[in-house]
Amino acid sequence: MLVGPPGAGKGTQAEFIAAHLAVPKISTGDIFRANVAQGTPLGIQAKQFMDAGQLVPDEVTINMVRDRLAEPDAGDGFLLDGFPRTTPQAQALDKLLADLGTGLDLVLELVVDDDEVIRRLSGRRTCRGCGKIWHVEFDAPNREGVCDRCGGELFQRDDDKAETIAERLRVYARDTAPLVDYYGAQGKLVGIDATGPVEDVTNRAIDALRSYGG
Ligand code: AP5
Ligand code: MG
Ligand code: ZN
Repeated sequence: MLVGPPGAGKGTQAEFIAAHLAVPKISTGDIFRANVAQGTPLGIQAKQFMDAGQLVPDEVTINMVRDRLAEPDAGDGFLLDGFPRTTPQAQALDKLLADLGTGLDLVLELVVDDDEVIRRLSGRRTCRGCGKIWHVEFDAPNREGVCDRCGGELFQRDDDKAETIAERLRVYARDTAPLVDYYGAQGKLVGIDATGPVEDVTNRAIDALRSYGG
């Protein structure tokens, strides 16, 4: 599981780490955004919270993850990005996994400061085609607005506006940061410096996984 503030690079790193481990990446933010784009009842419900930088209610989120973990590709392991992010979600996940006879192996905390978060989120672009995450300055595609990987159109997320970013940081500090202690107490937490080139962060993450047998 990955934990860290908005813009820490969870989605960017999840792609490489999941490939390294050969497991699916499960991003609750991505699942909510796909539902918003398709206009499903879940998406309609989630959108108001997302646009305000608030968390979607725990019950809704936990039910969604329970369904996702029941899909066959999650049977041999998975990487969680953006879930859990409240203590009740973490407790529900512990219970859900215990019922399945399993548990989390490792929690990687991506450590970056707020100024870096603001720089990263204000320049983020995402591909509509393949979901690859770009940055106009730190990880720019060859042609502005076009994904190098699939030729898809790049868009800016609705919640990457200055006021919404500030609210997301407040919500992180209040609701999600306590999970660092929650998993620390379980002996599962490893913090890594998430600044510097993307590949360096990936290497730090893979080293941390290796020392835990991953
Ligand atoms: P979610 O999609 O999870 O957003 P988030 O936690 O705010 O995190 P981000 O996706 O913004 O950042 P990231 O850490 O993935 O960074 P990224 O790799 O993109 O959640 C969105 C909303 O959905 C929530 O606000 C909430 O409403 C709802 N939600 C989701 N999960 C929920 C849950 N469990 N419970 C309740 N509600 C939930 O990188 C950011 C930028 O930085 C990119 O442009 C990237 O190119 C760049 N970058 C990455 N690494 C580097 C680097 N090393 N150097 C320079 N730039 C870099
Ligand atoms: Mg993300
Ligand atoms: Zn693409």
